[in-house]
Amino acid sequence: MKMKPVKWVVEDPKKKNVFWPSEELKKRAWVNDESVYAEAEKDPVAWWGKLAKEGITWFKDWTVTYKENPPFYQWFVGGKLNICYNAVDRHITSWKRNKAAIIWEPEPLNEQPRVLTFQDLYREVCKFANVLKGLGIKKGDRVGIYLPMIPEVQIAMLACARIGAVHSVVFSAFSGQSLRDRMIDAEAKVLVTADGYYRRGKPVNLKENADIGAEGTKIKDVIVVKRLGTPVNWVEGRDHWWHELMEKADLNCEPEVMDSEDMLFILYTSGTTGKPKGIEHHVGGYAVQAYWTTKWDFDLHDEDLFWCTADIGWITGHTYNCYGPLMNGVTSLIYEGAPDFPGPDRWWQIIEKYAVTVFYTAPTAIRMFMRLGDEYVKKHDLSSLRILGTVGEPINEDAWLWYFNTVGGGRCPIIDTWWQTETGATLINSLPGIGPFIPTVAGRPFPGTRFAILTEDGKPTNIGEGGFLVQKSPFAPGMLRTVYGDPEKFKQQYFGVYGERIYYTSDGAYIFDQLGNIRITGRVDDVMKVAGHRLSTAEVENAVAQHPAVAECAVVAMPHDIKGEVPVAFVALKAGFKGSLQLEDEIKKKVTEIIGPTARPEKVVLVDDLPKTRSGKIMRRILKALTANQPIGDISTLMNPESVQTLKERIGYKGPT
Ligand code: WTA
Repeated sequence: MKMKPVKWVVEDPKKKNVFWPSEELKKRAWVNDESVYAEAEKDPVAWWGKLAKEGITWFKDWTVTYKENPPFYQWFVGGKLNICYNAVDRHITSWKRNKAAIIWEPEPLNEQPRVLTFQDLYREVCKFANVLKGLGIKKGDRVGIYLPMIPEVQIAMLACARIGAVHSVVFSAFSGQSLRDRMIDAEAKVLVTADGYYRRGKPVNLKENADIGAEGTKIKDVIVVKRLGTPVNWVEGRDHWWHELMEKADLNCEPEVMDSEDMLFILYTSGTTGKPKGIEHHVGGYAVQAYWTTKWDFDLHDEDLFWCTADIGWITGHTYNCYGPLMNGVTSLIYEGAPDFPGPDRWWQIIEKYAVTVFYTAPTAIRMFMRLGDEYVKKHDLSSLRILGTVGEPINEDAWLWYFNTVGGGRCPIIDTWWQTETGATLINSLPGIGPFIPTVAGRPFPGTRFAILTEDGKPTNIGEGGFLVQKSPFAPGMLRTVYGDPEKFKQQYFGVYGERIYYTSDGAYIFDQLGNIRITGRVDDVMKVAGHRLSTAEVENAVAQHPAVAECAVVAMPHDIKGEVPVAFVALKAGFKGSLQLEDEIKKKVTEIIGPTARPEKVVLVDDLPKTRSGKIMRRILKALTANQPIGDISTLMNPESVQTLKERIGYKGPT
């Protein structure tokens, strides 16, 4: 059905490329009045208390709304709830029981999509919860989930939440070794995986990686979804087919009564060290922030179809492919495969086919499609779209404008959401009914949250002056509570810079205008965003160093037109090894094997000598400048200044000399 395209935005009469919601959008939006910011600011704790009551079904009210024991904090203390109950059960007693909860689009065009209504989801979740119980999983136990984008991933997460088990989802494109490290740290007892999935038309054998991941861990049982039906290695007694266990499972499973501060999930993410941190989120606060940000940021109503393209293995997938939309009773779409398969218009074809209304993706994807050309977008009727979202890395003006004009037809607001695995849900973005929508500017902090941009010595910055983005207490309810098993790391990483009441984000930013809109400039630490995926240079270095030819290495992030940043490895070889293209390739392969293809270095630069200080420290600053064609700065303090000249030649440095 062709829809009449509605103009959801208007251009500012005085400023080019500044947009505001149109009257139609304001009329429709859940929030359309500027005054929410001031109202929330008066008393953020009371504000969140009000939102928590309104949005979430509690089994028992809390006694204290917010409690601080800096740098630790708690929300809705004493409150009892179950997030799975909020995402599923509460919809099956209303007309929504027969509404689509999840629409799944497989990659192969000749396969049928699957649609699960809320009632279907309820049944599958209850059954799988009983499967987990049958394997001895109890409240507080950790369950690993290593699944592709198929509905079983949400079913498994919700089933864990239902019985109070803690899920730890690992991105299906991470390697078996990455999976193992995470399963060891989380001390998972059960792993849920699949035989495989399709990627660019080819079956990927996921079970092979899952087997590597389960080895040497405390995992007693591996549950395998039969997605492909291809032969897999089988460990008798440990491995079980999902469908066989489900056949025998009981339909009824009461949701566990959870404390607001009970753990909901652990999600591993990269910090500045080589070891990923287990970010710990708790039930109550996470539920509240996931519910309200989904509702307000994307202005979701009953007739909407929400498509967030993020993989479930990342925080965006957790919050906006699972808990957020489901708690709101909104239909969401998930797609199994590659964005450009079988052709560069696959995503646009999906939007047209299902009449997606709200679409949320990452700048990398936008830049990739922009590069491919407008014709693939123009081939499809995208008039159903109302709101476009972006997340994961700073978006450049060109990409923003292309997204706005070509995908959105100049009609839809772009909601540029800043947040982190640690924050659980979005925190800085313009709201659709309020605006403004300005290229490269995320917007204002979500009502009821307090941010500042500080200089190195902790002073507030002025408009346009760069500084460090921080959040001030009271912290948003969905924030991480700690680093799993490492509270010291939590203290030092997030509260070690400006003290225990100021959460340090590791992002640079500046205040853009009088309204207090914020522009995010990107990470100020050694964390890279490679095609929106979060990785640390230290992790990639550890992987490179495991190649037997490598004596020493340094990895830095190099700017990239499409992926934002890519890792480049500078490698000094051990005596007896000779540089060759084949060796460079082997080193790249090593990284894929150890971390996964997302971490594969774009370039391996073989050198005799890495630039070092007199005390022997590798000067990564110089390597970074070299890859970005920026001024190299002072090299007089180097032990081996001549190394810089060689490096310039090797990488074809085009910056100032
Ligand atoms: C970056 C992703 C600019 C930022 C949800 C942050 C962004 C890191 C934006 C967290 C945005 C996320 N504009 N930068 N709209 N959103 N970032 O944990 O550097 O994978 O610290 O969470 O992504 O990445 P993570």
